[in-house]
Amino acid sequence: MEQNLKVLSTLPPLVFAGEARALEASLAEVAAGRAFLLQAGDCAESFYDFTADSIRDKLKVILQMAVVLTYGTGTPVVKVGRIAGQFAKPRSSAFETVNGTQLPAFRGHIVNDDAPTLEARRPDPARLIAAYHQSASTLNLLRAFTKGGFADLEQVHMWNQQFVASSREGERYEATAAEIDRALRFMAACGIDLKAEETLHQVDFFTSHEALILGYEEALTRRDSLTGDWYDTSAHMLWCGERTRQLDGAHLHFLSGVRNPVAAKVGPGAKPEDVVAMCDILDPERKPGRLTLISRMGAGKVEDALPGLQVAVRESGHPVVWTCDPMHGNTFTSDSGRKTRHFDAVMSEISGFFAACRRSGTWPGGVHVELTGDSVTECLGGAEEIVEDDLALRYTTTCDPRLNGRQSLDLAFRVAELLREG
Ligand code: PEP
Ligand code: CO
Repeated sequence: MEQNLKVLSTLPPLVFAGEARALEASLAEVAAGRAFLLQAGDCAESFYDFTADSIRDKLKVILQMAVVLTYGTGTPVVKVGRIAGQFAKPRSSAFETVNGTQLPAFRGHIVNDDAPTLEARRPDPARLIAAYHQSASTLNLLRAFTKGGFADLEQVHMWNQQFVASSREGERYEATAAEIDRALRFMAACGIDLKAEETLHQVDFFTSHEALILGYEEALTRRDSLTGDWYDTSAHMLWCGERTRQLDGAHLHFLSGVRNPVAAKVGPGAKPEDVVAMCDILDPERKPGRLTLISRMGAGKVEDALPGLQVAVRESGHPVVWTCDPMHGNTFTSDSGRKTRHFDAVMSEISGFFAACRRSGTWPGGVHVELTGDSVTECLGGAEEIVEDDLALRYTTTCDPRLNGRQSLDLAFRVAELLREG
């Protein structure tokens, strides 16, 4: 372990401090109610699902969602992936029982393997280095895709994947894309030189993950040569999970010491004074864009639990971004033993979040979702009406169930409607 961390501490940074500062500036716009944060990607990235196609398809669906939200609301969308480093999983129990055998829990490919054998579940420190290299390759491709023409707004039709294109959501997306085409042609006809407008041809796409394995994060924390400040160069943005946000805990302490924009999950048990104390730890300077709070209450709880927290945080003077994770409070195990979520519960939590924000006078700053570009059958419901028997068809996540391409697009259209109503 020590040896691997030492190696990590000598490897090049994955992101640069200036990029983290650019994200913070964008998030300050969200905090001010002038932009919306879309944070999305895998629950846990996999060492086995690591191809150009799968990275491209995840990016495609996020770009599609961003277009739907931007075009549908006229609000800029800050795009942050749960990608290029989202490898570590906190677990509620240290063991699980598979076919009658008790096994150590799977903790993400940065720690152990998900195969249900004792051998596979043994932690292997060499995985720290493998996770770093996979993150570097993923980020390399993301940079190429987002800056090298693929994310050009003139390619907006190309992001619709085949299996989505023929669906109702896909057709709705095509209609939006056609309107964008028309708008671009209109601008060109008015004499605007579209080629010269750099922002039309590339996007800013940032990376994030849960800062869980502190040895890994620390080994990648470096002093910025420009400002002398410390940045965790494993990702642009890091968050603290619901299970590790103890006020006197190591995770908040670590995040308080780096200058990246940071976030923390806030579950239904959070007390207002504890959330304010957490803000004091993570953002003592009350700097807009520094801190994002990710509400993950559960569909039935958010409307009651959230407004009081939001009021307490505002009264404490912390200019945080409030965003909604509608996934982690709505997970249950189906009769077949698979973890799943219902699309209706996900949408219901998002509606509840918007209602809570309206009640407390807070800008609904964004959504944080687990998704994949593939046509998986992991979450129930949606326009395809996935039912329990379908879960076995294409259930490939190594951890939590993800929205598939169609469900993700559907969600974006509905969020755009909610934002417009607000
Ligand atoms: C997650 O985001 O994958 C996660 C484990 O969330 P939480 O900490 O909110 O349970
Ligand atoms: Co998850």
